Amino acid sequence: MGMFAVFGNPIEHSKSPLIHQMFAEQTGVSLEYQKILSPIDSFEQNVVNFFSQGGKGANITLPFKERAYQLVSELTDRAQICGAVNTIMKLDDHRLLGDNTDGMGLLLDLQRLEFIHSNSKILIIGAGGATRGALLPLLEYGCHITLTNRTFSKVERLVEQFSGIGHIQGREICQIASAEFDLIINATSSGVNGEIPEISPDIFSSEVACYDMFYQNTLTPFLSFAGEHKTKIVADGLGMLVGQAAFAFKLWHGILPEIAPVLSILQRELRI
Ligand code: ATR
Repeated sequence: MGMFAVFGNPIEHSKSPLIHQMFAEQTGVSLEYQKILSPIDSFEQNVVNFFSQGGKGANITLPFKERAYQLVSELTDRAQICGAVNTIMKLDDHRLLGDNTDGMGLLLDLQRLEFIHSNSKILIIGAGGATRGALLPLLEYGCHITLTNRTFSKVERLVEQFSGIGHIQGREICQIASAEFDLIINATSSGVNGEIPEISPDIFSSEVACYDMFYQNTLTPFLSFAGEHKTKIVADGLGMLVGQAAFAFKLWHGILPEIAPVLSILQRELRI
């Protein structure tokens, strides 16, 4: 039986073991998947020990994704461009391969929701790690992306880095004030503190879809704000969480599981 784990700090509330067990049942794979609370100082040693004791794959969550990027000896193209690793696989020659499945997880969820098509006009608010992880798959899919952020210099850096891949432009947050987008994605961490990014409510309409990468057991602050300004089509990042796990599962086991049945179970548990 393959041994897998998620490393983080804190890790108590991680849903990854549950998600991977459900994928395993769905696909007939047998696996053991545990949560590992890694002390901040000894993350690298803990990961190395796990793999030398027979571990086959690991997920990496906050605050270790950049350190995992440094630790592995091979990187997929998408992990390379993100500068962060959320999935590690032990290769046959014992070296560790680092991948980043966050952006593919987001795209899979947006496709499931029918929020996206190949030339969607998308506004992404936020220019941190979450956005960096999302840009490659969305640009490769053909979307036209407008990027904005409270701190505009971070937008300029990302636009410069990703402009060779697809259609991406940066705009100051105060210059965006009309309902010109098909999809608006909140990729800021503002929801963690119960806040919303300062953006004009005129970007919302009854036709636009709004996605918040953040999730909680009630509607997120950003999605509440969108709903107060005519938006009817909303979804939070729980589906992205299941989607990134699905692509990690595919890397390890060669099968992409269905996310919808797993997501319904998590939604029921979270919202009771
Ligand atoms: P993550 O990995 O979640 O993306 P991060 O790299 O620290 O975390 O980036 C956080 C993002 O959320 C940034 O775009 C940040 O904006 P700044 O670059 O201006 O700091 C954004 N953010 C966090 N709190 C916010 C708030 N209250 N209003 C607007 N943007 C916020």
